[in-house]
Amino acid sequence: MLSCRPAVLVLLLLFSVGLSAQNFTKPIGLPDTLSGTNFNLTLAPSTFEFFDGVATQTYGISRDYLAPTLIFNKEDRVQMNVTNNLPDTTTLHWHGMHVPPEDDGGPHTAITPGGIWNPEFEVMDDATTFWYHPHLHGKTTDHVYRGCAGMIIIRDDEEAALPLPRTYGVDDFPLIIQDKMFDASGQFIHTPFGDTMMVNGVVFPYIEVPAQRVRFRMLNASVERAYMFGISDNRTYDWIGSDGGLFPQKVTVPRTQLVAGERAELVVDFTGQAGQTVYLSSFSSELPMGLPGGPGGHGGGMMGHPPSPLDSADFHILQIRVVAANNNPSPQVPTTLVSHSPPQEVDATVFRTKVMTATANDPNLFVFDSTIFNHHHIDDTVYLGSTEVWTLINNTFIAHSFHIHDIQFYVLDINGNPPPPFYRGKKDVILLEPNDTIRFIGEFLDHADPHIPYMYHCHILPHEDAGMMGQFVVLDTTPVSVYDQLPTNEQITLYPNPTSGQVQLQWDQPQAASVLLRITDSNGRLYRQMQWQPGEELDLAFLSAGIYFVAIRSEEQWIVRKVVKQD
Ligand code: C2O
Ligand code: CU
Ligand code: CU
Repeated sequence: MLSCRPAVLVLLLLFSVGLSAQNFTKPIGLPDTLSGTNFNLTLAPSTFEFFDGVATQTYGISRDYLAPTLIFNKEDRVQMNVTNNLPDTTTLHWHGMHVPPEDDGGPHTAITPGGIWNPEFEVMDDATTFWYHPHLHGKTTDHVYRGCAGMIIIRDDEEAALPLPRTYGVDDFPLIIQDKMFDASGQFIHTPFGDTMMVNGVVFPYIEVPAQRVRFRMLNASVERAYMFGISDNRTYDWIGSDGGLFPQKVTVPRTQLVAGERAELVVDFTGQAGQTVYLSSFSSELPMGLPGGPGGHGGGMMGHPPSPLDSADFHILQIRVVAANNNPSPQVPTTLVSHSPPQEVDATVFRTKVMTATANDPNLFVFDSTIFNHHHIDDTVYLGSTEVWTLINNTFIAHSFHIHDIQFYVLDINGNPPPPFYRGKKDVILLEPNDTIRFIGEFLDHADPHIPYMYHCHILPHEDAGMMGQFVVLDTTPVSVYDQLPTNEQITLYPNPTSGQVQLQWDQPQAASVLLRITDSNGRLYRQMQWQPGEELDLAFLSAGIYFVAIRSEEQWIVRKVVKQD
């Protein structure tokens, strides 16, 4: 995927559509920024001149198209005032942020036309690039396509201490990348695969960058299309961060693949290149099989949609004009960026599997676990404080992505192999190629609500809208109530309880094989993990006095019993 094939590339450069001589004549739009702790945002219909003299009907958030960039400081408490002046009910979701369910802006937090929504939350995430967009079930594609999407930049001390370009609009640029299609009168054609690229809402844009190191915050805000980004001269650059923040170490590459919803932060070195012109391009011919807009994937011309010449082609997106350096060039990017402490698999207490399939009667209707999204059905229950391993399986013939709200996760493995370096940061969107199995680990801390769920879904928006989505609630309960709610009749009994050491553990399922046994406290902290042979006595003398939970793993579930340890 990172391989560079110069011979093939030259041919594609000569023949592919997007690379033919286009005039990149419009300066890139730089979304204005909003910062502080009080943010006023208004979603409203508008018009925008993508082409001179042609008013295209759009939606925007406090802008005619797209939205201001929100700048949050970690640990600030922010107050959001969101007014919906759209002619339609909508929501506003802070994609990537670790906020309480009621503040997350998912499909359960609808804002009716004329309505106002006032979430208030603490910014708990590390420095990164997030984004925000509507999330009303069945309407997400429509509202995002029309223009409701913006970037969120989170700043923190750890990132601020690193020598990285970070002056917005000077050496640190948001690049919101989308494909669109227009009809003869210049109005949007609502199709999942456009034929016209835009960056920050500008068609055929150019950007002037100083002849020094420049940071690009890349957001694939397309509804469906994936990209294989690179610079047209095939240079390498430093890929420094992904969805949830900076990597432990920079990764030097010539290509960056982003599926819809994914972000990447790149530092490209233009030192000494004043006067030169290159392009940010997508080498979509190099996308792995089955990705949207790439070889073997869905593209234009499918299911009644107009064909798109961008599919599987290589095309320029943004002309980069290098101008004089400023007085403050950023030094070389350090190899080591920020420290990470990912949760460990041995600490996981819950293992879930999510299988992506097509439905039996429609090969183009994709779902999780054979179940189409139902707004009124909670698919999963997660207990606050737990560490979980999720196994994602793509049993379809095309690629999908998986996005989860509430948490950032770490990829454990992809088809049994360790993740590549650019998947070693925190993620909230991950690509699954056809037949992939990906395991990730995540911690569900801080936020719980029995009534308002968080979502997980494919971030190909037409798939999400059609029902490739599930939801989970996080419950603030201890494992003993987990036990009460388990849909199992199995029981384990512990005695004596309270105990000062030796206990008998009886399980009403007569069983010969040994099973996994874990001893935790009510915060889920692990004290011992072992294989336990039914009938075997347990010695708890090593525990200090307190309340603990003994859990044994039966089939796909944990059976949990509370035990009081005395001195
Ligand atoms: Cu970007 Cu659930 O969304
Ligand atoms: Cu999200
Ligand atoms: Cu999908």
